[in-house]
Amino acid sequence: MKILVLGSGAREHAIIKALIRTGTSRDNIVCAPGNPWIGNEVEVREVDATDKLSVVKLALEERVDLVVIGPEAPLVAGIADALREQGTAVFGPNQDAAALEGSKQFAKEIMAAADIPTGMARECSTTEEVESAMAQFGAPFVIKADGLAAGKGVIVTSDKEAALEHAAKFIQDGVLVEEFLDGQEVSLFFLADGKTVMPLSPAQDYKRAYDNDEGPNTGGMGAYSPLPWLPEGFIEEVTQRVAQPTITEMAKRGTPFVGLLYCGLIITERGVKVIEFNARFGDPETQVVLRRLNNDLSDLLMRAATGKLDVGPVATFSEDVAVTVVLASEGYPVSNAPVRDVVGIESAESIDGVEVCKASPTGRVLSVVGSGETFQEARTLAYEGMARISLEGGFYRHDIALRVAD
Ligand code: AMP
Ligand code: GLY
Repeated sequence: MKILVLGSGAREHAIIKALIRTGTSRDNIVCAPGNPWIGNEVEVREVDATDKLSVVKLALEERVDLVVIGPEAPLVAGIADALREQGTAVFGPNQDAAALEGSKQFAKEIMAAADIPTGMARECSTTEEVESAMAQFGAPFVIKADGLAAGKGVIVTSDKEAALEHAAKFIQDGVLVEEFLDGQEVSLFFLADGKTVMPLSPAQDYKRAYDNDEGPNTGGMGAYSPLPWLPEGFIEEVTQRVAQPTITEMAKRGTPFVGLLYCGLIITERGVKVIEFNARFGDPETQVVLRRLNNDLSDLLMRAATGKLDVGPVATFSEDVAVTVVLASEGYPVSNAPVRDVVGIESAESIDGVEVCKASPTGRVLSVVGSGETFQEARTLAYEGMARISLEGGFYRHDIALRVAD
């Protein structure tokens, strides 16, 4: 089976590594646009992943059997639709189904229709409405841009002025003011084939830039999997109360969701609640979740893409645990650093139990993944790997998986 992976980040690198580890030959993988590091492992093609004509042409040229779409931008641009129209199997939702991630307002509408537990929210299109909603819910204030904002659309703050300032930036396209939900966050991924879902193993992401959850929100600075502190029956509960009803509701509306349903959850005192849906694998959670996958990943993705999730084995995961730490460039996520050399990756990768997934010279540069029998071991490996890598001005968090490592 020949597979085209669209995207260029550490998540796509992790998907490719997992495909290879679970039985796909590297000769049967193409990545576009990829990055130079991914290019050391598989063929990469300089194609814009959001350009329909170019992607369709590439899929035909390379005679691929399956396209796996990594990031949200191509999904929201309708790349999956274009590929399906010409008969290619795609792991990734069509444009109208990707609105589950692309529009927070649409996600709330689906949750209301399917009776899915989530926080209260008000859609606002004027500053007066924002102020009124903030007064209703109280501090801390949660303000979200309605559309995609590359991880910069959400602010959680008790500073009223900062909340209003953030709302003003996005108000012309609509903002959501939400009730603050308090509790541990969980990322739980489901493969979806339009009708049914299959859960993967849960992970926890670290969203803030600095140690002890300080600093601005980012795309994610580290993660670990599984979550030993989850209550019994958690995955079944989320499957039945969140993921399956979402997929059923989407099918009912004639916009079936095929691909990865990422449930961003908070475990509150009043039970589990959805904070967001994404329509793709999370980054960096994918690095730890797929690191532990036992099954042939190509088979799972193909079955999801072709409506056959219930035919064949379910996903199972290694007892080994995984921890990933993200190296970010100077100033991330506020400013972009100049391109600088990253040194020591090979040395990090030479450590047994360490894998490095690479993205780009600036922003979130790479993720070092450690795996082992215990969190203590996996963490030590990830940080040993990180210690061998240097990037002027680069930084990473030191407390990833600390809470589960003793
Ligand atoms: P989102 O882009 O919706 O995932 O939001 C980014 C981050 O903001 C989440 O991972 C949470 O840490 C935080 N967040 C979002 N919504 C809420 C909420 N209603 N209550 C508390 N924290 C939230
Ligand atoms: N790690 C969060 C995300 O991928 O959106």
